[in-house]
Amino acid sequence: MHKVDFEMVEMTLDVMKYAIGRITHPAPELGKPKKEEELRALVGETVTPNGIGGEKAFQLFKEVLIKATVPIDHPRHLAFVPASPTRAAVMFDLVTSASSIHGAYWMEGAGGIFCENEAMKWLVSLTGLPSGSFGVFTSGGTAANLSAMVTARENWRKYPSNTNKKGLIITSSGAHSSVKSMAKVIDCDVLLVETEEQMTAEALSEKIDSLDSQQRDRLFAVVGTGGTTNAGIIDDLSGIANVCNTENLWFHVDAAYGGGALASTIARPLFQGIEQADSITIDPHKWLFSPYDCGAIIYKNPELAKEAHSQEGSYLEIFKDEGAHGFNPSDYQIQLTRRVRGLPLWFSLAMHGTDKYSWAVDQGIELANLAGNLIRKHSLVELVREPSLSCVLFRRKGWSPQDYTHWTYKNHREGFALVTPTKYKQKGVYETVARFCFINPDTTEKDIAMILDSMA
Ligand SMILES: Cc1ncc(COP(=O)(O)O)c(C=O)c1O
Repeated sequence: MHKVDFEMVEMTLDVMKYAIGRITHPAPELGKPKKEEELRALVGETVTPNGIGGEKAFQLFKEVLIKATVPIDHPRHLAFVPASPTRAAVMFDLVTSASSIHGAYWMEGAGGIFCENEAMKWLVSLTGLPSGSFGVFTSGGTAANLSAMVTARENWRKYPSNTNKKGLIITSSGAHSSVKSMAKVIDCDVLLVETEEQMTAEALSEKIDSLDSQQRDRLFAVVGTGGTTNAGIIDDLSGIANVCNTENLWFHVDAAYGGGALASTIARPLFQGIEQADSITIDPHKWLFSPYDCGAIIYKNPELAKEAHSQEGSYLEIFKDEGAHGFNPSDYQIQLTRRVRGLPLWFSLAMHGTDKYSWAVDQGIELANLAGNLIRKHSLVELVREPSLSCVLFRRKGWSPQDYTHWTYKNHREGFALVTPTKYKQKGVYETVARFCFINPDTTEKDIAMILDSMA
């Protein structure tokens, strides 16, 4: 398996040919899932004692299995938070794999970690955090949020009176599910400010004032959102920062989706206050055009993260030695062994420059505004709320929740588009509505118009 022979070289060329074809393809086919039994019937047993051979396995992958996946970068994939990695970043993902770099410690990964840190410097500069702030790339927003919450909790528990207390955090009901589920991982309770709109300083203060003294003693952090996943809403970050400052609470901003818009000249002012956060999550694999997976966690005081995350072990001692010293990404988040997953972003930034990133993010916002205008003029649909960041919520007049589901499946079945419904709460009532989330700058006005027309 490890020797290089003619067959291996041929296989490598085949794989490269496929990768070149995919990287240069302007509109990949919108695949759809099949049942597991159907896929098994089509491909048979692939993992056998003697192997089925690379050629056969690759053929099955190209002819059957890839067709049962949805390319995240399809211009009419506007569901969830789609993605649209730059071609440069995808190319360099191949190089990252081929280079086999261990990204945990400088001693082994210095050259790769150097590149990651160059990209990170730019990311940190977008936040406006004070000098000394820094971060690391994680597997995604969930891991970034968890890393921040562990850091905040460990910092709080340094005070002897907190050592044995179960922690409590406050966030809003519009916050991403990962905040609530990572709170379970660290066994802390979550209280919600009940709003899908912006969490304001007033609402947060009211929530804090409503706590009993025992709850107040357990409260150690507030998580604000810099772009809700459902509707692109940005909390009152400045007001929340002031409350956290007065109340001596850790302020984490989950900008996993919206953080890319810090690069946008149009949207940057909406994030006023983010520069006062203690920690910020931004996912380059969402709106900064990196391939999966690439999240990031940034800390105002990285030393606190190091105290919380740095792992000890006899076989790891060499990494702390003077001769090996340098920046060790594993010290600042939950993962030890790691891929240098920031490398594709670095290469793409180095190749294209940061201005093109600002332009591409602006496109997402402009597409959302364009969609808003098309919806206003269309007789069958209406806006549920004004577009926010790159999210648009709209209703098809007269439709039931089932109509939205059928419409989604029909468009997907026909290989036309993937646009899914969501729910939005207004005046205490949830309504099923349609949702666009724009990331891909290659989505066109015609794409949007055709999707709206498919609701006829
Ligand atoms: C605001 C927000 N936070 C966290 C996450 C979780 O990120 P990931 O899926 O990369 O773990 C998401 C994902 O959509 C998100 O939108």
